[in-house]
Amino acid sequence: KSLKEYNTFGIDVTAKTFISVETVEELKVVLSKQYASEVFILGGGSNMLLTRDIDKNVLHVNLKGKEILKETEDEVYVQAMAGETWHDFVLWCIAQDFGGLENLSLIPGNVGTTPIQNIGAYGVEIKDTFESCTALHIQTLELENFDLSGCEFGYRDSVFKNALKDQYIITSVIFRLSKRNHKLNTSYGSIDLFLAEKGIESPTLKNVSDAVIEIRQSKLPDPRELGNSGSFFKNPVIPKEKYEELKRKFPEMPGYVFSETDVKVPAGWLIDKAGLKGYREGDAGVHKKQALVLVNYGNASGKDILNLSKKIQKEIFDLFGIQLQPEVNII
Ligand code: EPU
Repeated sequence: KSLKEYNTFGIDVTAKTFISVETVEELKVVLSKQYASEVFILGGGSNMLLTRDIDKNVLHVNLKGKEILKETEDEVYVQAMAGETWHDFVLWCIAQDFGGLENLSLIPGNVGTTPIQNIGAYGVEIKDTFESCTALHIQTLELENFDLSGCEFGYRDSVFKNALKDQYIITSVIFRLSKRNHKLNTSYGSIDLFLAEKGIESPTLKNVSDAVIEIRQSKLPDPRELGNSGSFFKNPVIPKEKYEELKRKFPEMPGYVFSETDVKVPAGWLIDKAGLKGYREGDAGVHKKQALVLVNYGNASGKDILNLSKKIQKEIFDLFGIQLQPEVNII
C-alpha cells in the first residue's frame, strides 16, 4: 500500500501491510499477534520524512473521540483520543470557549503525536496545558499514565523521543484548559500588533486563533497543496559567546535568550541569509516564504529531500559554524 496520503510530505513509499485501528482494544489485538519489531506506528504523518519503503506492518492509529472529564469553576480537563486531528480539536476547544491551545492553531498532525515533540508555536507549547497522557506499551500491552514531569518535555522534545523511543503508542491526551479569565499570549511573533492593526483591543480566543491562522497561512505552505512537514530543522541553541562573535560578522542576526548561557537562533534566518530561500533541486525545495520549511513540489522522493537537507546543513556549517539538527523524524 502507498503511504503517500498518510504523510504530509506526500512521499510515495509503500508499506508491507497497512492496518488502521479505531479502538484501544483493536490495537491490543493487532499488537498481540506480532513482534514489536515488525510494527511501524503511524499517527498524523506530519513530522516525518520517509526515505524508503517500510518493510513492516504499518499501524495507523485512528482512535477517535473527545470528552470533558472534569470541571472546576475556572478550569476544564478535556481528553482527546490520539487519532483526532489536532487543528479540529483546537477549533472545538475554542468553540467551547476553552482557552490555552489557540496559539497552536493550524499545526498539522494528530493529537497523539503532539506530546512526542512537545509541539509549539507563537510562545506556547503543549506542555503549558498538558495534564497527562495515556500510552500503550508495545510489548507488555499495558496502558500507562504519564504526567507532566514523566514526559520530560523540552524544546521540541520529550521522553518519547529519547529514553522511551519506539516503546509506546500514545492513545489519548488530557489538557487542562481555562474556562474564564483566559491568559492570552500575544506578545510572541507580533500577534499583538496584528490584532491592533485590525482594531481588536480585547481579543477573544477566536481572535487569537484567527490571527495565528492568518500569519501561518501567509508563510507556511498547506500540506494539501504543497507537501511539507513544517519546520524541517530545530532552531539551534548556541553559547552566548558564539552568538556575540557571529553578531559582529552579521549584525542583523536575530537571537532569543534560551538560558543564562545560551541563545536560540532562527534556523530560517540562517538558511535565508545563506541565500537558499526558494532554492530548488528537482522537486525538492526550500519554501519561498519560509526558509525553514522544505517542500515537495510533487514527485520528490524522501532521499531527494534528505539530500537537500544535507546540502543545507553543510552550507550553514561552512558559513556560520552551526550544525543544524533535523526536527523532522527521518525514516
Ligand atoms: N526568518 C528569516 N527568513 C526566513 C524565515 C525566518 O529571516 O525565511 C526570520 C524571521 O524574520 C524571524 C525569525 O527568522 O526573525 C523567526 O521566524 P518565524 O517567526 O517564522 O519562526 P521560526 O523560528 O522559523 C518557529 C517554529 C515554528 C513556529 C514558529 C512560530 C521551530 C523549529 N519552528 O519557527 O514551528 O510555527 O516559530 O512560533 O521552533 C514547526 O515546528 O513545524 C513550526 C512551523
